[in-house]
Amino acid sequence: MKKTVLLTGCAGFIGSNFLKTITLRPEVKKEYNFVIVDALTYAGHYPTIETEIKNNHHLSFECLDLRHEEKVQELFKKYSFDGVIHFAAESHVDRSIKNPNIFIETNVLGTLNLLNESLKKFVTGNDFRFVHISTDEVYGTLKDDEATFTEEHPIKPNSPYSASKASSDLVVRSFFETYGFPAMITRCSNNYGPYQFPEKFIPLMVQRAKSGEKLPIYGEGKNIRDWIFVDDHNEGVWKVFTKGRAGEVYNLGGGCERRNLDVAKTILQYFNLSEDHLSFVTDRLGHDYRYGICYEKTARELDWAPSVSFEEGLKKTIEWYLNNEDWMESVKHRKEVVDRKDATVYF
Ligand SMILES: NC(=O)c1ccc[n+]([C@@H]2O[C@H](COP(=O)([O-])OP(=O)(O)OC[C@H]3O[C@@H](n4cnc5c(N)ncnc54)[C@H](O)[C@@H]3O)[C@@H](O)[C@H]2O)c1
Repeated sequence: MKKTVLLTGCAGFIGSNFLKTITLRPEVKKEYNFVIVDALTYAGHYPTIETEIKNNHHLSFECLDLRHEEKVQELFKKYSFDGVIHFAAESHVDRSIKNPNIFIETNVLGTLNLLNESLKKFVTGNDFRFVHISTDEVYGTLKDDEATFTEEHPIKPNSPYSASKASSDLVVRSFFETYGFPAMITRCSNNYGPYQFPEKFIPLMVQRAKSGEKLPIYGEGKNIRDWIFVDDHNEGVWKVFTKGRAGEVYNLGGGCERRNLDVAKTILQYFNLSEDHLSFVTDRLGHDYRYGICYEKTARELDWAPSVSFEEGLKKTIEWYLNNEDWMESVKHRKEVVDRKDATVYF
């Protein structure tokens, strides 16, 4: 019998890429049905996944806000889930600085609503699985000479976003420790690729460069991020879902640490633009200096490693945005985007 898996947040960046790659593989289609749940916030764009949902009987969609406990209860009455992969979240650090509340509501309480209902589906001996998608930002920040984050690194979040993700990680952990609930946590570094909302660093820089505008760089641009191509991340998520050990945390990193300034310069070079197009702006409050991920445990246990180099992935990503200008325009002008009052000044 086919298994039914709940995927949350698949109208957003990482989840939509997961849906377009992993869920459409013939061997996955044969074994699984997927119910996609998304509140379609400013970051969730239904047209991104509409064709796949219309054309594939093993995919179905429910528009639902995870903050609403009763709606989540109804969802779990309607479907008999065998597992959950939980991508949905408020995900933009700048917005969390302006309005932390919704980050706690969605990322912590929304996750708790899912856990409470999932726990009812889990009975000792069945193979229910719950994967919580988290971030390296829960570990805090690194200095230049510090070793990259392992899963044992203390949790020291610095932004309201990372604090909300760290809080939800701890609630997930507590369900494993208290009830033996088979949950796993993935912590990945900065993703890039197609369908990323244009407030995020790489699509924002590409958009600006394409139209010959200035590229806003926080502070001196020295901050370092460890970039991972979205397909590599999603491959890791699927490995954790299918093979990971209950109660474990798995780091997923790109092995590609780059300064923000260098990423912006590479994008300028692609467009044959000079560095005069860089505009240094007031730094983000509490800006973490460096993220770097050690994924040795995931590689060893799950035979996973990133396969896309930063140069290859960035070229692919820039070309995707250039070939999908309609998507970019339709995303930016949605009512949900315009109505959000915590938009960044640079978007
Ligand atoms: N993008 C990255 O670089 C990155 C890195 C590490 C971890 N993550 C994590 O990966 C996950 C996905 O990130 P993303 O970049 O795709 O985010 P995103 O903002 O692009 O997408 C989030 C999705 O969640 C949905 N959503 C938000 N609030 C909801 C709610 N209350 N109920 C139901 N759906 C809701 C949105 O509509 C959207 O479709 C998040 O948990 C994020 O914390 C992202």
